Amino acid sequence: MSEPLLTDDPNWIEHLAKRADDPDSFVRQQLAYSLGQATQPKAGKTLTKLLLRDAADPYLAAAILSSSLPHFAAIQKTALSSSSIPEAVGKQIQQIATRIGAKPEIITEAESNKPQPAVATNRSDVLKQFAQAAALKGTSADGRAIFQARCSACHKLGGIGNAVGPDLAALTDKTPQTLLIGTIDPNREVSEQYTAFLVRLKSGSTLGGMIADETANGFTLRGVDGKPQTILRADVAEMKATRRSLMPEGLEAGLNPNEMANLLAFIANSN
Ligand code: HEC
Repeated sequence: MSEPLLTDDPNWIEHLAKRADDPDSFVRQQLAYSLGQATQPKAGKTLTKLLLRDAADPYLAAAILSSSLPHFAAIQKTALSSSSIPEAVGKQIQQIATRIGAKPEIITEAESNKPQPAVATNRSDVLKQFAQAAALKGTSADGRAIFQARCSACHKLGGIGNAVGPDLAALTDKTPQTLLIGTIDPNREVSEQYTAFLVRLKSGSTLGGMIADETANGFTLRGVDGKPQTILRADVAEMKATRRSLMPEGLEAGLNPNEMANLLAFIANSN
């Protein structure tokens, strides 16, 4: 995809920033997803604006959180200093902070204005960082706890987890290298099946999630809360693919190569 070239074009960011005031929540939801692909401070500011305005809408909140990593310092600062953000969303931001090891006290004003992601956002850099993990001999038993903490919300393996994402036991290629790429770079090849979609209903409400169980009359949208929702085609006014995987980037944050090797071993050896 040629998108990364566009994502930090200042004109494009300006264009995006204007849409934060769009009265249409569908447009703002789409904007929130797009901002995750930009690293400029202005993109982070726009995202915090959306957070302050829209955190109470679960679909918008999910879109904002899924784009939060490149702008995490700004997001965390806003969440800590605003009382308008629902507790559940604040908690999720805290969980992301714990996962990536972001400490609020080290985020100064100057830092939050710098394009300095809390997590390396360039996936090929992260892959290089973890390349040695593919060569290490991991311990599957130690990888289990890591899987449970970071992956089991969406993958079912070794008797734990939820089957939201693909069945990792059924992968034909379980070489460490391939598993590493799948883990670190979920947006490299997003299959249609797992793309996050935005759906606007004729009633005016907007939803988001992954499409499961299509039928002639409709489909099931597996939303951000994991709850499936049945939608009739006749009720849909508009639909749009975000081109982002439901699987977030940055799940590797805080792991060292040994721990990553353990995680890969657990995946390769479990059913
Ligand atoms: C929020 C849900 C979610 C979480 C959490 C999650 N995944 Fe995924 N994962 C998915 C989805 C959805 C896909 C399918 C990606 C696609 O094709 O767009 C996927 C795909 C993958 C793939 C590639 C599978 C293939 O078919 O090639 C691997 C490997 C993987 N995940 C590993 C992990 C690991 C390891 C973790 C924990 C560190 C993890 N995932 C956490 C949802 C998730």
